[in-house]
Amino acid sequence: MNDLLPETVDTWQGVERSAREVFGQYGYREIRFPLVEKTELYARSIGEATDIVEKEMYSFQDRNGESLTLRPEGTAGCVRAGIENGLFYNQVQRLWYAGPMFRHERPQKGRYRQFHQIGVEAYGMPGPDIDIELILLTARLWRVLGLKGLRLDLNSLGTPESRAGYRSALIDYLSMRRHELDEDSLRRLSTNPLRVLDSKNPSLRDVIEQAPELPAFLDEESRTHFAAVQSCLADAGVKFVVNPRLVRGLDYYNRTVFEWTSDRLGAQAAVCAGGRYDGLVQQLGGDDVPAVGFAIGMERLVELLRVDGEAADAHPRLHAYMVTADPSATCSAIRLAEELRGRSLRVLLHCGGGSLKSQLRRADRSGAHCAILVSKEMPVAVKMLATGTQTEMERSAVGDYLQLHCSDHGS
Ligand code: HAM
Repeated sequence: MNDLLPETVDTWQGVERSAREVFGQYGYREIRFPLVEKTELYARSIGEATDIVEKEMYSFQDRNGESLTLRPEGTAGCVRAGIENGLFYNQVQRLWYAGPMFRHERPQKGRYRQFHQIGVEAYGMPGPDIDIELILLTARLWRVLGLKGLRLDLNSLGTPESRAGYRSALIDYLSMRRHELDEDSLRRLSTNPLRVLDSKNPSLRDVIEQAPELPAFLDEESRTHFAAVQSCLADAGVKFVVNPRLVRGLDYYNRTVFEWTSDRLGAQAAVCAGGRYDGLVQQLGGDDVPAVGFAIGMERLVELLRVDGEAADAHPRLHAYMVTADPSATCSAIRLAEELRGRSLRVLLHCGGGSLKSQLRRADRSGAHCAILVSKEMPVAVKMLATGTQTEMERSAVGDYLQLHCSDHGS
């Protein structure tokens, strides 16, 4: 679990602002739901036999003896909130959320126990058009952030029935080659065989490569849906790779699944992942409402921006650093600073006294455009810190002066 220091937070805020703007362009609205839910919500949605539920959840009993869990992802909580608040009743919803998630994984670069996601979920739309919209939205966000070179993998998991057919074919095949599997895959063979395809163990590469492929088991409707997603994305100029091995680590998916990855992130390459989950709302007690969504891993996205050197700097430069020649001018300085802030200027007031020289040294280090020097009797002096030019003026003239001379695009 990481501390995020102010310098990093600046970048995070830049990303969050861009995401919020792009989501707004597509008509998505923010939803906020709790960090803690009943454990059973995650077991029922993500799946009992998934890594997350089996071994990664931070679960605890509260004082009533109820088992609660720190959210390992946002989709389940979003669906729960939507059902409880009647959001899915006869209407479509386009929602987004952002915040911390918790998984007790083995920490490594790009994989943390508290990490942050920005997620998007769309409800009530069964067709391929909304799948395409979500992918175009992510592609636009990468463009806005200046991210290049991400790879988009797509697959279709079909219906639960076609997936079950595939699952049993895969079990037959993997059982035949049981002696070549490692311990983890043997365990998955009986609990969650599709996850064997996700194994990173190089000695399993052969087994995985020769495994039956999911597309051969797709039903007609899922095939048509997937074909529409592909042709429309191609038409919109989005490059993608159909990857029949993309199965995802959570159980609720059907039909379209996708993942954006980067080869600059090492082993934890997925920056954004998601897909359709048409059965989940009903499974959790709601109506039969189709759904699709994705989540972006903030830590990985920010790391990519750092590598690419295009990190957005959200920290606005101070217009002025206000210093006082003597303590008796403090009240007057505070009043002026408040007046200037009332005009939307950013003014840092030096607190803690010290010599004028040391206060001006701090002003230099603050990165502000100018220092404002307030003394009891004299007019106010404004010193441009880049040039050293100092101008005296009445306090009533300072606001206009700053607005003219301290713009973020000028000096
Ligand atoms: P997920 O693939 O488990 O999907 O996570 C989505 C993204 O969160 C990953 O691609 C990765 O960038 C980031 N992520 C996951 N675990 C970690 C970790 N331990 N440390 C850092 N980053 C991590 C979901 O969570 C689904 N709820 C996505 C979704 C939304 N599907 C439909 N709607």
